[in-house]
Amino acid sequence: MTSRIKAVIPAAGLGTRFLPATKAMPKEMLPVVDKPAIQYVVEEAVGAGIDDILVILGRNKNNISNHFDAVPELETNLTNKGDLHRLLRVKESSDLADIHYVRQGEPRGLGHAVLRARAHVGDSTFAVLLGDDLIDERDALLTTMIAANERTGLTVIALMEVDPDHIHMYGAAAVEATDDPDIVRVTGLVEKPPKEDAPSNYAVIGRYVLNANVFDILDRTQPGKGGEIQLTDALQELALTEGVLGVVFRGRRYDTGDRLDYIKAIVQLAADREDLGPDLRPWLKEFAANL
Ligand code: G1P
Repeated sequence: MTSRIKAVIPAAGLGTRFLPATKAMPKEMLPVVDKPAIQYVVEEAVGAGIDDILVILGRNKNNISNHFDAVPELETNLTNKGDLHRLLRVKESSDLADIHYVRQGEPRGLGHAVLRARAHVGDSTFAVLLGDDLIDERDALLTTMIAANERTGLTVIALMEVDPDHIHMYGAAAVEATDDPDIVRVTGLVEKPPKEDAPSNYAVIGRYVLNANVFDILDRTQPGKGGEIQLTDALQELALTEGVLGVVFRGRRYDTGDRLDYIKAIVQLAADREDLGPDLRPWLKEFAANL
């Protein structure tokens, strides 16, 4: 089923945690096994029925738009060799969806990046997917969030319980239970609080289904944590006024935001793959036993 909503993927971060790999390449293009991280995110949106995607680009933009474009000479080469398997893999990324691009200009934070989507999105509800969080394709999240938005008309964010020692790395939510164990009412939000100030251990993970009125709020949101315009701050205003819902995710999420988590994500995903897992798993066991 095709969704009426569009997806926005901010991909304009500086990727400083991965330097020098990200000196000339956006971090969204770092391979996770054999696909760039951003392709997983585009596939997730497509899997939720979204066929119109806007990527907010930073510097080194060409890498991303080239990846989702056709490469005729490579396709001809693989066709001539009869390598249909690789040909299919190459064409997959260019046939995925209708992908549009806009540049962020100055990197002034996630809220500012989302505001850049305004002309493309217009007055409609839209989804935002952040590339640092990969959600396992076997676990539903975005479809649940879109359904909750369609049912209630409210903005919906994804939450996950994390170790309280890690809450300072996320937006943190104050929540109230609803009749549905997977859905909470968000009563407050704070961006990356110290552990002792966090309202709970419910962390905002990078999936949002936002009503278009968030643009008006973002437009007047002042720089917050880290001197950046924070999406979390705009959502705090919405939580206090019309209300925000949280879908509590209990599935498999892979963080590719820093080097250690990125390595873990690659190992977990590869170990689960049919083509790589059978050889990787016994090797991993042997390797771990000798550590
Ligand atoms: C962003 C958001 C934060 C959220 C996180 C999820 O932070 O600002 O609220 O918890 O994504 O990955 P970033 O990790 O981009 O600094």
